[in-house]
Amino acid sequence: MLGGKKVLLGITGGIAAYKTTFLVRLLIKAGAEVKVILTDSASSFVSPLTLATLSKNPVLSSFIKEESGETDWNNHVELGLWADLMIIAPATANTLSKMANGACDNLLLATYLSAKCPVFYAPAMDLDMYKHPSTKASFEKLKAFGNHMIPATSGELASGLHGEGRMAEPEDIINAVTDFLSEGLPLSGKKVLITAGPTYEAIDPVRFIGNHSSGTMGYELAKTAADLGASVYLVSGPTSLNVAHTNIKLIRVVSADEMYEAAHSYFEEIDIAIAAAAVADYRPKTIAGQKIKKASDTLSLDLVRNKDILRSLGERKQNQFLVGFALETENELENAKGKLKRKNLDAIVLNSLNDLGAGFGKATNKITFIDKNSVIKTFELKTKAAVAADILSEICSRIHA
Ligand code: CTP
Repeated sequence: MLGGKKVLLGITGGIAAYKTTFLVRLLIKAGAEVKVILTDSASSFVSPLTLATLSKNPVLSSFIKEESGETDWNNHVELGLWADLMIIAPATANTLSKMANGACDNLLLATYLSAKCPVFYAPAMDLDMYKHPSTKASFEKLKAFGNHMIPATSGELASGLHGEGRMAEPEDIINAVTDFLSEGLPLSGKKVLITAGPTYEAIDPVRFIGNHSSGTMGYELAKTAADLGASVYLVSGPTSLNVAHTNIKLIRVVSADEMYEAAHSYFEEIDIAIAAAAVADYRPKTIAGQKIKKASDTLSLDLVRNKDILRSLGERKQNQFLVGFALETENELENAKGKLKRKNLDAIVLNSLNDLGAGFGKATNKITFIDKNSVIKTFELKTKAAVAADILSEICSRIHA
């Protein structure tokens, strides 16, 4: 949600300013471009050098900028127009009052007045200041201006008193901003479960049975669903992939049994489940406690069936929209339709190994989307990111129908 967004972070003088170092780290981790404006008093609480290092940008604090011996000015109008969103945290009672009344005696306030983007502010002050009618009046005015308040929480305050006035935690500030950004998106408010990657079934402490799934299709589905506003649980077998998206919770598992447990633990609360994992159908009956030594020319392993995760979700299904994958080499449509029915799915994504460029380890995929009413849609060969967009668009059109 925050990927590529230009974020202006205004920091004012309160002890909670030290927490903004974490806020900057989270914003950068989420892919945002961050510029920090610090008021004079804020620099007593948090170092400009720390913020410049974390934000990867010079920290701005006065109208005048001194650079390599030259004097110039920091253009607040340009800064205000640059930003996709502005966050003022911590916002002191003093700054809030100035914002509410149009005062403009520092770079932060001038930029605030110039900004056309959504503005969020996270107040931080002592409990009696927070309750004071003048502070409440500032909140009301700022609300009327269309600014978004991220309320303070209750707890121990810098004064030693207990009460309302602690700045919201950096994670909560990020959540408030991403919730706002995801409003109106097709999957906003929806929870999506995705299984991805292979599973590894242990033979002994050093060996396993696995497969060549890279996990790319599942990870692309997770990213696309998250960009469409969903909260995503991505249950992934062992892969070299990673995700850094505030809307994605990555749950790493190894075996089919672990994937089964993880998928079922989230299933009740979710709206859409997509099983993109290449789950091992069998696992060794016993796992040797020690590394198996080569003793003879042949070695037999007894394998037992793994639980079918998707089928078990189909049996538990209430209102969830359930989607499976089928990888077929012959009688593709018939086999896929059979799986859809047997596993009680709402739709199935068919990959044919007969299609060049589709399948394991490829950057592209070619799919046919089949729903439970036998509506069939065939797509061209595309990147897996574009395929993920097609699959989610098909799902969205059915859940919103
Ligand atoms: N699946 C699962 N748990 C398993 C096996 C498969 O959740 N133990 C899911 C996969 O994630 C995929 C679908 O079921 O969504 C694939 O169904 P499956 O019956 O395994 O089809 P194929 O893998 O194509 O294998 P086969 O044709 O041998 O049945």
